[in-house]
Amino acid sequence: MIVVLLGPPGSGKGTQAKRLVSERGWPQLSTGDMLRSAIAQGTPVGIEAKGFMDRGALVPDEVVVKLIADRTRASDCSAGFILDGFPRTIAQAQALDEMLVLRQLKVNCAIQFEIGDDLVVRRLSGRRTCVACGSMYHLETLKPAHADVCDQCGASLIQRDDDRTDVVSKRLSVYHHQTAPLVDYYRRAEKLTVLNAGQSPAAVTEGLSVALSSWVT
Ligand code: AP5
Repeated sequence: MIVVLLGPPGSGKGTQAKRLVSERGWPQLSTGDMLRSAIAQGTPVGIEAKGFMDRGALVPDEVVVKLIADRTRASDCSAGFILDGFPRTIAQAQALDEMLVLRQLKVNCAIQFEIGDDLVVRRLSGRRTCVACGSMYHLETLKPAHADVCDQCGASLIQRDDDRTDVVSKRLSVYHHQTAPLVDYYRRAEKLTVLNAGQSPAAVTEGLSVALSSWVT
Protein backbone atom coordinates (compact mmCIF):
# COMPACT_ATOMS: atom_id res chain seq x y z
CA MET A 1 0.00 0.00 0.00
CA ILE A 2 1.32 3.47 -0.87
CA VAL A 3 0.17 6.14 1.58
CA VAL A 4 0.75 9.89 1.36
CA LEU A 5 0.76 11.83 4.65
CA LEU A 6 -0.16 15.40 3.77
CA GLY A 7 -0.19 18.27 6.23
CA PRO A 8 1.53 21.42 7.47
CA PRO A 9 4.83 21.38 9.34
CA GLY A 10 4.30 20.16 12.90
CA SER A 11 0.99 18.47 12.18
CA GLY A 12 2.38 15.13 13.40
CA LYS A 13 3.15 13.37 10.10
CA GLY A 14 6.56 12.13 11.27
CA THR A 15 5.27 11.00 14.67
CA GLN A 16 2.47 8.96 13.09
CA ALA A 17 4.65 7.63 10.25
CA LYS A 18 7.06 6.16 12.80
CA ARG A 19 4.14 4.42 14.54
CA LEU A 20 2.99 2.98 11.20
CA VAL A 21 6.48 1.63 10.53
CA SER A 22 6.39 -0.42 13.72
CA GLU A 23 2.72 -1.48 13.33
CA ARG A 24 2.56 -2.26 9.61
CA GLY A 25 6.20 -2.69 8.55
CA TRP A 26 6.07 -0.21 5.66
CA PRO A 27 9.15 2.06 5.51
CA GLN A 28 8.77 5.79 6.22
CA LEU A 29 10.11 7.86 3.32
CA SER A 30 10.63 11.36 4.70
CA THR A 31 12.16 13.76 2.19
CA GLY A 32 12.97 16.11 5.10
CA ASP A 33 15.00 13.36 6.84
CA MET A 34 16.72 12.41 3.56
CA LEU A 35 17.70 16.03 2.93
CA ARG A 36 18.96 16.54 6.52
CA SER A 37 21.04 13.38 6.15
CA ALA A 38 22.45 14.68 2.83
CA ILE A 39 23.38 17.96 4.55
CA ALA A 40 25.07 16.12 7.43
CA GLN A 41 27.10 14.07 4.92
CA GLY A 42 27.99 17.13 2.82
CA THR A 43 26.75 15.58 -0.43
CA PRO A 44 26.03 17.77 -3.51
CA VAL A 45 22.28 17.35 -2.83
CA GLY A 46 22.79 18.46 0.77
CA ILE A 47 24.85 21.48 -0.27
CA GLU A 48 22.13 22.53 -2.76
CA ALA A 49 19.26 21.90 -0.29
CA LYS A 50 20.67 23.65 2.78
CA GLY A 51 20.00 27.24 1.72
CA PHE A 52 16.37 26.46 0.83
CA MET A 53 15.74 24.58 4.09
CA ASP A 54 17.39 27.18 6.32
CA ARG A 55 15.00 29.82 5.07
CA GLY A 56 11.91 27.59 5.12
CA ALA A 57 11.56 27.38 1.32
CA LEU A 58 10.97 24.23 -0.70
CA VAL A 59 13.91 22.44 -2.27
CA PRO A 60 13.53 22.27 -6.10
CA ASP A 61 11.07 19.64 -7.33
CA GLU A 62 13.60 17.76 -9.47
CA VAL A 63 15.90 17.20 -6.46
CA VAL A 64 13.24 15.63 -4.22
CA VAL A 65 11.58 13.69 -7.06
CA LYS A 66 14.93 12.03 -7.79
CA LEU A 67 15.44 11.19 -4.10
CA ILE A 68 12.05 9.45 -3.99
CA ALA A 69 12.47 7.74 -7.37
CA ASP A 70 15.79 6.25 -6.18
CA ARG A 71 14.64 5.35 -2.65
CA THR A 72 11.45 3.58 -3.78
CA ARG A 73 13.50 1.14 -5.90
CA ALA A 74 14.90 -0.45 -2.71
CA SER A 75 13.62 -3.90 -1.82
CA ASP A 76 12.06 -2.77 1.49
CA CYS A 77 9.54 -0.71 -0.53
CA SER A 78 8.14 -3.69 -2.44
CA ALA A 79 5.11 -4.18 -0.14
CA GLY A 80 4.39 -0.45 0.06
CA PHE A 81 5.67 2.68 1.79
CA ILE A 82 4.63 5.80 3.65
CA LEU A 83 5.41 9.14 2.02
CA ASP A 84 5.99 11.70 4.79
CA GLY A 85 6.38 15.25 3.45
CA PHE A 86 6.31 14.26 -0.23
CA PRO A 87 4.73 15.31 -2.55
CA ARG A 88 4.62 18.99 -1.57
CA THR A 89 3.72 20.61 -4.90
CA ILE A 90 1.36 19.68 -7.72
CA ALA A 91 4.42 19.08 -9.95
CA GLN A 92 5.80 16.59 -7.40
CA ALA A 93 2.43 14.78 -7.19
CA GLN A 94 2.24 14.51 -10.98
CA ALA A 95 5.84 13.25 -11.18
CA LEU A 96 5.04 10.67 -8.49
CA ASP A 97 1.94 9.45 -10.35
CA GLU A 98 3.89 9.18 -13.62
CA MET A 99 6.71 7.28 -11.92
CA LEU A 100 4.29 4.85 -10.24
CA VAL A 101 2.31 4.20 -13.45
CA LEU A 102 5.55 3.12 -15.16
CA ARG A 103 6.01 0.60 -12.33
CA GLN A 104 2.33 -0.48 -12.47
CA LEU A 105 1.74 1.03 -9.02
CA LYS A 106 -0.38 3.90 -7.68
CA VAL A 107 -0.93 6.01 -4.58
CA ASN A 108 -3.67 4.23 -2.63
CA CYS A 109 -4.65 7.11 -0.36
CA ALA A 110 -3.66 10.55 0.92
CA ILE A 111 -4.34 11.39 4.56
CA GLN A 112 -4.68 15.11 5.24
CA PHE A 113 -3.50 16.09 8.75
CA GLU A 114 -5.85 19.00 9.48
CA ILE A 115 -4.67 21.41 12.18
CA GLY A 116 -4.69 25.16 12.90
CA ASP A 117 -1.59 27.36 12.53
CA ASP A 118 -1.58 28.31 16.26
CA LEU A 119 -1.21 24.70 17.32
CA VAL A 120 1.53 24.14 14.72
CA VAL A 121 3.56 26.99 16.21
CA ARG A 122 3.16 25.55 19.75
CA ARG A 123 4.19 22.10 18.61
CA LEU A 124 7.25 23.20 16.67
CA SER A 125 8.56 25.55 19.35
CA GLY A 126 8.54 22.62 21.84
CA ARG A 127 9.88 19.93 19.52
CA ARG A 128 13.20 18.30 20.37
CA THR A 129 14.92 15.60 18.25
CA CYS A 130 17.64 13.10 19.13
CA VAL A 131 20.89 13.83 17.27
CA ALA A 132 21.69 10.11 17.05
CA CYS A 133 18.52 8.06 16.49
CA GLY A 134 16.01 10.74 15.39
CA SER A 135 13.46 9.99 18.16
CA MET A 136 11.11 12.92 18.67
CA TYR A 137 9.98 14.63 21.87
CA HIS A 138 7.97 17.65 22.91
CA LEU A 139 8.71 19.81 25.95
CA GLU A 140 5.03 19.71 27.03
CA THR A 141 3.32 16.71 25.42
CA LEU A 142 6.08 14.11 25.03
CA LYS A 143 8.81 14.87 27.58
CA PRO A 144 11.97 12.78 27.81
CA ALA A 145 12.57 11.20 31.24
CA HIS A 146 15.69 13.40 31.68
CA ALA A 147 15.90 16.90 30.18
CA ASP A 148 17.75 17.03 26.81
CA VAL A 149 18.58 13.29 26.86
CA CYS A 150 17.05 10.71 24.52
CA ASP A 151 15.10 7.94 26.33
CA GLN A 152 15.92 5.50 23.51
CA CYS A 153 19.69 5.88 23.12
CA GLY A 154 20.95 8.42 25.68
CA ALA A 155 22.23 10.91 23.06
CA SER A 156 21.51 14.66 23.18
CA LEU A 157 18.27 16.28 22.09
CA ILE A 158 18.41 19.38 19.90
CA GLN A 159 16.01 21.94 18.41
CA ARG A 160 15.90 21.91 14.59
CA ASP A 161 17.25 25.14 13.00
CA ASP A 162 14.07 25.55 10.95
CA ASP A 163 11.88 25.40 14.09
CA ARG A 164 12.81 29.01 14.94
CA THR A 165 9.67 31.19 15.00
CA ASP A 166 10.59 33.28 11.93
CA VAL A 167 11.31 30.19 9.81
CA VAL A 168 8.14 28.44 11.03
CA SER A 169 6.04 31.39 9.75
CA LYS A 170 7.68 31.08 6.35
CA ARG A 171 7.17 27.27 6.28
CA LEU A 172 3.48 27.74 7.10
CA SER A 173 3.09 30.29 4.34
CA VAL A 174 4.82 27.95 1.88
CA TYR A 175 2.48 25.16 2.98
CA HIS A 176 -0.66 27.23 2.39
CA HIS A 177 0.48 28.48 -1.03
CA GLN A 178 2.33 25.51 -2.52
CA THR A 179 1.24 22.34 -0.71
CA ALA A 180 -2.40 22.88 0.32
CA PRO A 181 -3.55 22.66 -3.36
CA LEU A 182 -2.69 18.95 -3.10
CA VAL A 183 -5.77 18.49 -0.92
CA ASP A 184 -7.95 19.18 -3.97
CA TYR A 185 -5.61 17.14 -6.18
CA TYR A 186 -6.19 14.02 -4.08
CA ARG A 187 -9.86 14.82 -3.42
CA ARG A 188 -10.50 14.95 -7.18
CA ALA A 189 -8.68 11.62 -7.51
CA GLU A 190 -11.03 10.23 -4.79
CA LYS A 191 -8.06 9.27 -2.61
CA LEU A 192 -8.40 11.77 0.26
CA THR A 193 -9.26 11.24 3.92
CA VAL A 194 -9.23 14.23 6.27
CA LEU A 195 -7.92 13.49 9.77
CA ASN A 196 -8.25 15.72 12.83
CA ALA A 197 -4.55 16.10 13.73
CA GLY A 198 -5.26 18.43 16.66
CA GLN A 199 -6.11 15.55 19.00
CA SER A 200 -3.79 13.60 21.33
CA PRO A 201 -1.14 11.43 19.62
CA ALA A 202 -3.07 8.27 20.60
CA ALA A 203 -6.34 9.61 19.19
CA VAL A 204 -4.61 10.56 15.92
CA THR A 205 -3.09 7.06 15.70
CA GLU A 206 -6.54 5.55 16.18
CA GLY A 207 -8.09 7.84 13.54
CA LEU A 208 -5.29 7.01 11.12
CA SER A 209 -5.75 3.29 11.66
CA VAL A 210 -9.48 3.55 10.92
CA ALA A 211 -8.77 5.68 7.83
CA LEU A 212 -6.20 3.22 6.45
CA SER A 213 -8.51 0.26 7.02
CA SER A 214 -11.08 1.90 4.77
CA TRP A 215 -8.51 2.12 1.94
CA VAL A 216 -7.18 -1.43 2.07
CA THR A 217 -8.04 -3.03 -1.24
P1 AP5 B 1 10.23 18.19 6.85
O1 AP5 B 1 11.30 17.61 7.66
O2 AP5 B 1 9.38 17.30 6.02
O3 AP5 B 1 9.36 19.08 7.81
P2 AP5 B 1 7.78 19.41 7.80
O4 AP5 B 1 6.89 18.81 6.80
O5 AP5 B 1 7.79 20.85 7.83
O6 AP5 B 1 7.28 18.57 8.95
P3 AP5 B 1 7.82 18.51 10.37
O7 AP5 B 1 8.88 17.43 10.45
O8 AP5 B 1 8.23 19.86 10.86
O9 AP5 B 1 6.50 18.13 11.19
P4 AP5 B 1 5.64 16.80 11.28
O10 AP5 B 1 4.33 17.00 10.62
O11 AP5 B 1 6.44 15.60 10.86
O12 AP5 B 1 5.37 16.78 12.84
P5 AP5 B 1 6.09 15.94 13.98
O13 AP5 B 1 5.56 14.54 13.99
O14 AP5 B 1 7.56 16.13 13.92
O15 AP5 B 1 10.82 19.29 5.84
C1 AP5 B 1 11.81 20.22 6.25
C2 AP5 B 1 12.26 21.03 5.04
O16 AP5 B 1 12.83 20.16 4.05
C3 AP5 B 1 11.15 21.80 4.30
O17 AP5 B 1 10.88 23.06 4.89
C4 AP5 B 1 11.77 21.93 2.90
O18 AP5 B 1 12.76 22.94 2.87
C5 AP5 B 1 12.48 20.60 2.73
N1 AP5 B 1 11.62 19.58 2.10
C6 AP5 B 1 11.21 18.41 2.67
N2 AP5 B 1 10.43 17.72 1.82
C7 AP5 B 1 10.35 18.46 0.68
C8 AP5 B 1 9.67 18.29 -0.56
N3 AP5 B 1 8.91 17.21 -0.79
N4 AP5 B 1 9.80 19.26 -1.49
C9 AP5 B 1 10.57 20.34 -1.29
N5 AP5 B 1 11.24 20.59 -0.13
C10 AP5 B 1 11.13 19.65 0.85
O19 AP5 B 1 5.50 16.66 15.30
C11 AP5 B 1 5.91 17.98 15.64
C12 AP5 B 1 5.98 18.10 17.19
O20 AP5 B 1 4.66 17.93 17.73
C13 AP5 B 1 6.85 17.02 17.87
O21 AP5 B 1 7.49 17.60 19.00
C14 AP5 B 1 5.84 15.95 18.34
O22 AP5 B 1 6.29 15.26 19.50
C15 AP5 B 1 4.61 16.80 18.64
N6 AP5 B 1 3.35 16.11 18.33
C16 AP5 B 1 3.11 15.30 17.25
N7 AP5 B 1 1.83 14.87 17.28
C17 AP5 B 1 1.25 15.43 18.38
C18 AP5 B 1 -0.06 15.38 18.93
N8 AP5 B 1 -1.05 14.66 18.35
N9 AP5 B 1 -0.33 16.08 20.07
C19 AP5 B 1 0.66 16.81 20.66
N10 AP5 B 1 1.94 16.90 20.20
C20 AP5 B 1 2.22 16.21 19.05
